[in-house]
Amino acid sequence: KENKGECGLFAARYIANLINGFVPTAGRPNFVLGLPTGSTPLSTYRELIRMHEAGEVSFKEVVTFNMDEYVGLPREHEQSYRTFMYENFFNHVDILDSNINLLNGEVEGGLDELTKECERYEKKIEAVGGIHLFLGGIGPDGHIAFNEPGSSLASRTRIKTLAYDTIVANSRFFDNDVTKVPKMALTVGVGTVMAADEVMILITGLNKAVALHMCIEEGMNHMWTVSAIQDHPKSIIVCDRDATMEL
Ligand code: GLP
Repeated sequence: KENKGECGLFAARYIANLINGFVPTAGRPNFVLGLPTGSTPLSTYRELIRMHEAGEVSFKEVVTFNMDEYVGLPREHEQSYRTFMYENFFNHVDILDSNINLLNGEVEGGLDELTKECERYEKKIEAVGGIHLFLGGIGPDGHIAFNEPGSSLASRTRIKTLAYDTIVANSRFFDNDVTKVPKMALTVGVGTVMAADEVMILITGLNKAVALHMCIEEGMNHMWTVSAIQDHPKSIIVCDRDATMEL
């Protein structure tokens, strides 16, 4: 696509079509959507909200699972991914609160409790019959969710220490102060994303051009975790012109 906005329109319409054409079955009664945060998916969320307001799509029967969450940020913190999702999407559509699933990075009781939270999350995904479509973005180093370079491509939801590059990249949301950026996150694994029936990855901007090249023109590689998409039977990359500059 020409730019980020057009990528968002395409992605939103693709998602709405899947929701509208969804046929419930006994084991999979709801359409299950995996969702990312970040600036890239904002145009997708805006278009989905517009479509919802125009009566073109409803989220009443949709269940969502978000990709990741920082560890240690209070849930009401303005930079928590929970806050991001409510402000930019959930508050503006008719999704039921009980159908929204977010990792809780606030769990008290240390690493053991956080690990249990991750295991619970995987079980919840299993209980709804798996994810129909996982929408994702990537970091400039090719990470998907918070699966930093070196993550196993078979990984499942777990605690991850953030790469220094990611901490620097995300410091723009924390007064450009790296010390304020959480150093750990809970994240779905590469394997969790790739287990979805379909995967759609949004890649926009010049700063993602090397990652797009590594994702599709080099071999599958755990140093560029988004490259796992090469092994997925039904996946789409939606990118803008800037992101194609290294192809
Ligand atoms: C964070 C998130 C990723 C997201 C990335 C890119 O690292 N954990 O899921 O893809 O940011 O964000 P942006 O779209 O703002 O470039």
